[in-house]
Amino acid sequence: MAEAHIRITAGGPYIVTGGVPLSGRQPSVSTHGEPLDWEPAEANPDGYAFEERYLLCRCGGSKTKPLCDATHATFEWERALTASREPSASRRERVEGDGIALTDDTTLCSDYGFCGNRFTSVWDMAGEASDPEVRAKLLRMVQSCPSGRIQLEDAEGNAIEPAFRPSIAPIPDGPLWVRGGITMEAGDGTPLESRNRMTLCRCGQSQNKPFCDGAHKSHEFHAP
Ligand code: FES
Repeated sequence: MAEAHIRITAGGPYIVTGGVPLSGRQPSVSTHGEPLDWEPAEANPDGYAFEERYLLCRCGGSKTKPLCDATHATFEWERALTASREPSASRRERVEGDGIALTDDTTLCSDYGFCGNRFTSVWDMAGEASDPEVRAKLLRMVQSCPSGRIQLEDAEGNAIEPAFRPSIAPIPDGPLWVRGGITMEAGDGTPLESRNRMTLCRCGQSQNKPFCDGAHKSHEFHAP
């Protein structure tokens, strides 16, 4: 089977090849509405049937979401890939902790809120990571961030990342959570940076395409 890969067509869908599993995930939340973890999406707890190659909607208009139904060709929408092509590492701000560093690329935020709660935030916790309990919580919160906006590095500068197999999770009413370092290219064949955790816009409204910038919320995007 071919390598897991996503081609972002110039005026249409994401073309996914390599037999990438497709299964929705949604945040589980506390009684205070704070995100805790990820769980199978209610709408399709067993995942979608998928093939070696399939097309995912990125205009937001498909009636067969998350799959493309060619609606993209029937209306005007902003198709351009506007995200910076510079490596994410060049934009990351660092918070140094005890044998650990938190790095933050704010341009990638998809606004799921795993980075904080009523009591603290990952930026504060990074400075307190010598406490094993804080460190464990910090790891869990950072690695739950679907977009990879926040990441951790060890003392040698190695990324501390969860071991995801290549997979795609449509988040209900939100982006495609792309996991496992799936390679990507623009429609003209230009390779795009790939990361272990990425959120790709599927509402058509992001100003930072192909990445989600949280605009699905203000546009009340609806998708199972
Ligand atoms: S899915 Fe389009 S901005 Fe989040």
